[in-house]
Amino acid sequence: MKISIFGTGYVGLVTGASLANLGHEVVGIDIDPQKVKVLQQGEIPFYEPGLKELVQSNQHQGRLRFTTDFQQGILSAEAIFNCVGTPSNVDGSADLRFVLEVTSTIAKYSTSYQVLINKSTVPPGTARRCTALIRQLNPSSQVEVVSNPEFLKQGNAVYDFNHPDKIVVGAQSEKAFQVMQKVYHGLVKTYIPLIETIWETAEMIKYANNSFLATKISFINEIANICDAVHADVKIVAKAMGMDQRIGPKFLNAGIGYGGSCFPKDVCALYSTAHQNGYQASFLEEVDAFNERQKSILVPRILKAVRAVNGDTVTVWGLSFKPKTSDVRGAPSLLLVPQLKEAGLSVKVYDPVAQEEARKILGEGVTYCSSITESVINSDAIILVTEWDEFRNVDFTEMGLKMKNRIIFDGRNIYEPDQLRQGGFEYYGIGRGSF
Ligand SMILES: NC(=O)c1ccc[n+]([C@@H]2O[C@H](COP(=O)([O-])OP(=O)(O)OC[C@H]3O[C@@H](n4cnc5c(N)ncnc54)[C@H](O)[C@@H]3O)[C@@H](O)[C@H]2O)c1
Repeated sequence: MKISIFGTGYVGLVTGASLANLGHEVVGIDIDPQKVKVLQQGEIPFYEPGLKELVQSNQHQGRLRFTTDFQQGILSAEAIFNCVGTPSNVDGSADLRFVLEVTSTIAKYSTSYQVLINKSTVPPGTARRCTALIRQLNPSSQVEVVSNPEFLKQGNAVYDFNHPDKIVVGAQSEKAFQVMQKVYHGLVKTYIPLIETIWETAEMIKYANNSFLATKISFINEIANICDAVHADVKIVAKAMGMDQRIGPKFLNAGIGYGGSCFPKDVCALYSTAHQNGYQASFLEEVDAFNERQKSILVPRILKAVRAVNGDTVTVWGLSFKPKTSDVRGAPSLLLVPQLKEAGLSVKVYDPVAQEEARKILGEGVTYCSSITESVINSDAIILVTEWDEFRNVDFTEMGLKMKNRIIFDGRNIYEPDQLRQGGFEYYGIGRGSF
């Protein structure tokens, strides 16, 4: 099947390479000529485990290519994926500029029956809006819009795309559902549930999914903050809660808030959509506001501990919004580092992959270190922000010898407090009863 993909970012590239791997003939189209050039050379413009190999092998087999020529991409395809970004507007609503731009382009150039698949995360009502736009721009267009949200996680994206818990398809005709069955034939035959529904329900599933996960994280963070107040240990609380099969163990790791390009923006877009449709989703508004507060929760505690030892230098470990990605969008580090600097501290940072991405936002005035060891020299405190594997197996005896003071703030609760305290460290976690 001939498939075109608009947008070769995280979702578009994983979708394109994976569908090519399933045997489809795929063209990835992007407006960014630099990105397309890099992809044509078999390189990947960001870090995602396993993706480079998948792209290269499908390029070599002639099933995957990249272009900026959208007209060519549209004419040849049976199915066209829209995988462009949907960032937040200043009021929190989804900015659909790129999605509508692609829709207009397709309305203009399409000459046959084609399915336009919205894989980007878009608010309920968008497929209907895209359909109206197509009819307005080209009344004889045969393009049919489908909603097919994506649930992959960065850092595990290739596996997730190929092993989804479900495939959600929102469409208004049997013909469109059939095209989608053909697109996902290679996956569906491995017994992945295919949920076929109407546009708005499919669009809503994605937002409900992400808002629930964001809520679950914020819930355990709230419990962690209470644990700190009452000297309880959230790790044990969460472990016990997770044993209840109605709750489950996932997304119960307390920390300094969620980040990324999806949870924060999707929660905001959902309450904003609700508001536009006459419902005030105050619960979700609070989930978002709470998470923003959680990102800064360590700042006064860090200042107190560092000032108590007359210190002036801290080390931040991890800048990406989560491990195994170079993406720093919405990362707690981007809020934390400037706040520490503003408070007069010297900040040294180290991330195994995301340093260059972070530098674009944090700028200079921060010391970027090339190793864990370099990052702790003459530092008063370590602040663990992103739980990369590299930070899990650190030799703290060696680290302690290089530091001015031995203080550690474990923003992801990955260390054993007793072990670190025995090693002479002052340990603070999130909800470990240390405040
Ligand atoms: N990143 C994730 O983990 C994830 C997971 C599920 C869903 N989503 C959703 O998928 C969508 C895409 O996210 P992403 O992280 O891949 O974004 P991204 O910013 O990495 O990629 C978007 C790409 O679209 C390109 N683009 C913009 N306008 C274009 C146009 N007119 N024609 C062709 N290309 C164009 C950009 O140059 C960019 O390469 C968003 O709606 C996001 O919410 C993301």
